[in-house]
Amino acid sequence: MHIINVVGTRPNFVKMAPIVEEMNRTPGIKQTLVHTGQHYDESMSRVFFDELGLPKPDIYLGVGSTSHARQTAQVMVAFEEVLGESRPDLVVVVGDVNSTMACAVTAAKLWIPVAHVEAGLRSFDRKMPEEINRIVTDALSDFLFTTSRGAIKNLHKEGIPKEKIFFVGNVMIDTLNKHRDRAANLNTPARFDLDAGEYALVTLHRAANVDDPRTLSDILDALIAIQQEIPILFAAHPRTLKRIDEFSFQHRLDSAPNLQTIEPLGYLQFLDLAMHAKMVLTDSGGIQEETSILNVPCLTIRENTERPITITEGTNTLVGIETEKIIAGAVEILTGKYKDGHIPKLWDGRAAERIVNIIKRLAPK
Ligand code: UD1
Repeated sequence: MHIINVVGTRPNFVKMAPIVEEMNRTPGIKQTLVHTGQHYDESMSRVFFDELGLPKPDIYLGVGSTSHARQTAQVMVAFEEVLGESRPDLVVVVGDVNSTMACAVTAAKLWIPVAHVEAGLRSFDRKMPEEINRIVTDALSDFLFTTSRGAIKNLHKEGIPKEKIFFVGNVMIDTLNKHRDRAANLNTPARFDLDAGEYALVTLHRAANVDDPRTLSDILDALIAIQQEIPILFAAHPRTLKRIDEFSFQHRLDSAPNLQTIEPLGYLQFLDLAMHAKMVLTDSGGIQEETSILNVPCLTIRENTERPITITEGTNTLVGIETEKIIAGAVEILTGKYKDGHIPKLWDGRAAERIVNIIKRLAPK
């Protein structure tokens, strides 16, 4: 069986690593790793391959950053050529980024079966580009691998036949479990003059939060207030760094003595910082899940989440995007009032094993 595994962005690498590893262990599977090049900076791509033990991509499409339509179209054109040459038995896509949807559409039109890992998540907010990517990818997929029962319900409501849906757990947690001991010993907080348990870790990159100057300004106001109570380490995505520069907000960050803004970190250092943080503030999807497993309080700076299980079972709270609400969320944690999480069903480090077993058993050869 020949399988093409597709990655494009930072979270894709984290999700795909255990699948590639499991396929390597499985006799009868030949795999090809395609990297679309949606993320391309050393710190957004290469470092993840090195740290997670992902093999060098067999094929690199090199699409880079541009508008949504152009990026999606460029991936489709390049991927169609790859599929034309190799005619795999299955294409595996992960997550909800433009590369995910582009490759699913391209494969489906060539009648090549598609497996979607992390299917069925819905924020019910179509202003999020990822929501559109999720809906399209799920509608076209033949194997829908889900992380939760809520995701299965969403797929049922959209009329996806139940024979296509498989509850397998969370591949992102496979990766976390594999690397957490190694990460824990890196002493990363000290590198930034921080003491374990006594800092807040921040990430921010959603277009809705950082591309609008008013929203970004409100969020920065919250961070500037919070750093008066607890030091903040802000690991900023390149998109966010660009916007801060464009909107001339850098001086505001510079005037906050307990707020350090740094470039994106690799997987292991970030994991080390997350597990030792007093709290994490983020608009990322994956970090809501990772903090739940690490039992670290997470404040999600968004109005909705496609991962409600991290609220009902994990350590996540949606605080929205208003300055006062973000501050109030942090104060609650600082004053010691915060829920404990527990580990959602099947988030046990064996999701990739289940996925590859199902593919091996049921995918056409
Ligand atoms: C993408 C995904 C988002 C995911 C995120 C993870 C889509 C629609 N969005 O958002 O769902 O949560 O990845 O990080 O697919 N840039 C660099 N270097 C890089 C990559 C990006 O400088 O290696 C900058 C460029 O200015 C680019 C901007 O970041 O224009 C945005 O990159 P893009 O891939 O379009 O979206 P992300 O915000 O990274």
